[in-house]
Amino acid sequence: MSLSELKAAWLENYKTAPAQLEKMSEINGLISAFNANVDAVIKVSGKSIETLIADNNLDANIIVSEGEKAIRKNEDALRGFLHCFKSGIAEEWLIEEVEVFEWLNKNVGYDKMQMGGQGGIVANVMAVCGVKQVYVHCASAPKEQGQLFLDLPNLVTTNQKGDLQQAYTVDRSAENALIHWIIEFDKGDTITINGESYICPKANRFIATYDPLNFKLHVDQNFDSRMSKEDINPEYIILSGYQMLQENLVDGTKGTERIDLSKKMIAEWRKSCPNNLLHLEVASTQDKVIRKHLIDSLVESVDSLGFNERELIDILEVIGEEELAARCEEHTNSSNLFEGMLKIYEYTKCPRMQLHMFGLYVTLQQKGFKVSALQNRNGMQLAATVAAAKAGTGAIDTKDVLLWAKNHEVSAVGLNELKALSQTVKNHLGDNDLLSTGIFENKDLEVIAVPTILIEKPVTLVGMGDTISSVSLVGAL
Ligand code: GLC
Repeated sequence: MSLSELKAAWLENYKTAPAQLEKMSEINGLISAFNANVDAVIKVSGKSIETLIADNNLDANIIVSEGEKAIRKNEDALRGFLHCFKSGIAEEWLIEEVEVFEWLNKNVGYDKMQMGGQGGIVANVMAVCGVKQVYVHCASAPKEQGQLFLDLPNLVTTNQKGDLQQAYTVDRSAENALIHWIIEFDKGDTITINGESYICPKANRFIATYDPLNFKLHVDQNFDSRMSKEDINPEYIILSGYQMLQENLVDGTKGTERIDLSKKMIAEWRKSCPNNLLHLEVASTQDKVIRKHLIDSLVESVDSLGFNERELIDILEVIGEEELAARCEEHTNSSNLFEGMLKIYEYTKCPRMQLHMFGLYVTLQQKGFKVSALQNRNGMQLAATVAAAKAGTGAIDTKDVLLWAKNHEVSAVGLNELKALSQTVKNHLGDNDLLSTGIFENKDLEVIAVPTILIEKPVTLVGMGDTISSVSLVGAL
């Protein structure tokens, strides 16, 4: 088939998106836990950062040096910024000292506040897609946090008294807002430090995070006990937020103990609805001890995993696949990444996993998994449509914008990746029509791959992965 014929075939496949979206209102309950926070977004220029350095007499030698990806001094925040700016990459570093947080607050500020954290972002998306009742966990929920939830009656959390209340109106006033700085920069901008100039090759962001509660996976006791009650019947539980944990926590306890504790809680929540689906969004987990414990211990109870290219490579690194990880890092394409997925599948035995990469989503699952291959494809097409609406309009706050991209064609980039994937699947598993149908099945496995709609100049990219993973799964009905 020619490129235009393929695009036409996929436009036809994508036609199910509106009907899939409608079906999401049949879902009775979904829990999104654990991390919601405030994202303080600021767009900076190289010049404004130069001024900040000069006005505060910061030590430029520290800023240009390489070192641990952690923020303990004011200079470290700018070191992280420069590290991302000069390579056009996205990273998130944790702020370990409250003084640095206060300094940033006073000297850097922000342009706008928006919903942050996988848990918060997923909750908003699920609620606007029409899921009947979305329960969102908040480690802290003062008014500044509550008001970042969409003003929708089907989106609830626990209030000060422990009762469920619409999240938008909740004000647990004794608690502090948890702030993550999203520092965005533009392609082509320059910055000069210590006489050396750096040009930014790609627009991206550096995230500096101060979040003492989510750092230790703090759980609101009220939420935990409410979710364990008989009347809460979650058909889906979407987990995230483990990525901020570290091996040794400041209070002397271990990060792995927090993972184990959460596993027990979730097992209680699942009792009232035994057929539920438990999904873990892996997210960028820097600490290797935590990463390994998640894979070795939490994943055994999980039905579905979500990750992007980087997160997939990170998993390979802790399951004894360093060589393949290096190959994926050097050539980040669908062929290498799919081989990575096969290894992760073999190692974890998790029945479903999904990769979202630039231009393509790939799901690998056990034959006969309760969500069929076709349902998966329909969910993934809806996810690509909603993600394109988010990228193109900047916000998916109302139901009418969700299908904004519905007649857009899939990208050539995605089709090329799909072509390469089809060849790799052929080498490993046999002949297939992935390129036009997106579905391959044999007696053990199902592979579902969907080329996505790409938006030329995206208004925003924060939270894209969270949106894709959750809509792909929950929209697969
Ligand atoms: C991380 C960041 C958070 C951001 C989210 C988007 O959790 O800490 O600030 O909103 O990623 O996925």
